[in-house]
Amino acid sequence: MPTNLDLQTRANDAYMKLYPHKHIAIGRGNGVYLYDMDGKEYLDCAGGIAVTALGHNHPAFNKAITEQLERGFTMCIGSIATEPKVKAAELLLAHCCAEKIFFCNSGAEAVEGSLKLARTWAHQNKSEEAKEFIVFGSSFHGRTYGAVSATEKSRHQPQFAPYLPGFHFATYNDLDSVKALITDKICAIMVEPVQGEGGLTAGTPEFFKGLRDLCDDNNILLISDEIQSGMGRMGKLMAHAHFDYEPDITCLAKGLGGGFPVGAFMAKEKIADAFNAGDHGSTYAGNPLATNVAYHVVSEIVRPEFLKRVREASLYFRERLGALHNETGNAIKAVKGEGLMIGIDTKYQIKELLHELLEAGLMATQAGKNTLRLTPPLIISNEEIDKAVAVISDVLKNNKNLIKYEG
Ligand SMILES: Cc1ncc(COP(=O)(O)O)c(C=O)c1O
Repeated sequence: MPTNLDLQTRANDAYMKLYPHKHIAIGRGNGVYLYDMDGKEYLDCAGGIAVTALGHNHPAFNKAITEQLERGFTMCIGSIATEPKVKAAELLLAHCCAEKIFFCNSGAEAVEGSLKLARTWAHQNKSEEAKEFIVFGSSFHGRTYGAVSATEKSRHQPQFAPYLPGFHFATYNDLDSVKALITDKICAIMVEPVQGEGGLTAGTPEFFKGLRDLCDDNNILLISDEIQSGMGRMGKLMAHAHFDYEPDITCLAKGLGGGFPVGAFMAKEKIADAFNAGDHGSTYAGNPLATNVAYHVVSEIVRPEFLKRVREASLYFRERLGALHNETGNAIKAVKGEGLMIGIDTKYQIKELLHELLEAGLMATQAGKNTLRLTPPLIISNEEIDKAVAVISDVLKNNKNLIKYEG
């Protein structure tokens, strides 16, 4: 069996250098734990960045894959119905304010499809000029061209220019800044219920209500990008249900497959009907393996006891982190986010903090400029939360390698 060092070295030789170098290689997982090639255990509070909703090695996830393999087919052309895809579609639509769905393979594809649907709808229902979008500062919508054009940070990478024209950036949680950008050319506003990559800022209920009203008053569609915040992470299946607003189009991915690549966008029928056969599609979209996994993962998450437990876990985690503020000599400046999408601003630089947490056996990620992000599997127990909090507390109190953040 290769060691951490073997695999790291080979990875460095083979991979494009698009991700910062890590000093571990993962060999297996179970529940909320991952194990590296040298056998060290990590409490996984990254969850593949809000992906592994059911944790690792979950029976429902494993069953979904083996069950479909036993049926002997993993691909089918998009025009032919399969039971897993129909069941996954019906289940998701039963829990969303939408009547139609398109499955895809990733979050960025869900965003691209939504942008295309919004323009198609506006072309037919508004005007041929209504092709523009309002999006938000500190947003993140993915890495394909439409998605990066809607992502503020990515637009500062001049080597990728030219971006798609027609994306206007308002300030998150600031309705006046949105109002100021509304013209007859706007077809949709796209918003994240909680800004994930941007630093774990949650939208306020007033903000979402205001966006809905602005959209209704100006014949504009509201797109909810809940790729990171959806699929139970807020304690409700849909993030927009948690914040109590009704989008016209909802984008999903990440937790939808619990680790298997699958995404989707859903829309109200009167909007989805703007699409005609051939307007959109993808070879792998909605394949039986991916949709069988989505069906079983969502069936698990949508159980009332499961969602109740997510709400309890979120409250417990936040309570415990809140208590750390004094305990760590004010090393924690703020605990942010919503549900099990937790952001912690500390007085230390994130790079060293993440490294030291990993050394201490806790896996987490960075969001925004300097926010520590915890997006654990939704199955995390109170005991595991205690363990995560103990590691964070110990590193913040005792670690000499942390560097003060001056931002
Ligand atoms: C809110 C949001 N939208 C879109 C995406 C893009 O998803 P993917 O990486 O699956 O393309 C992400 C990924 O982090 C995301 O958090």
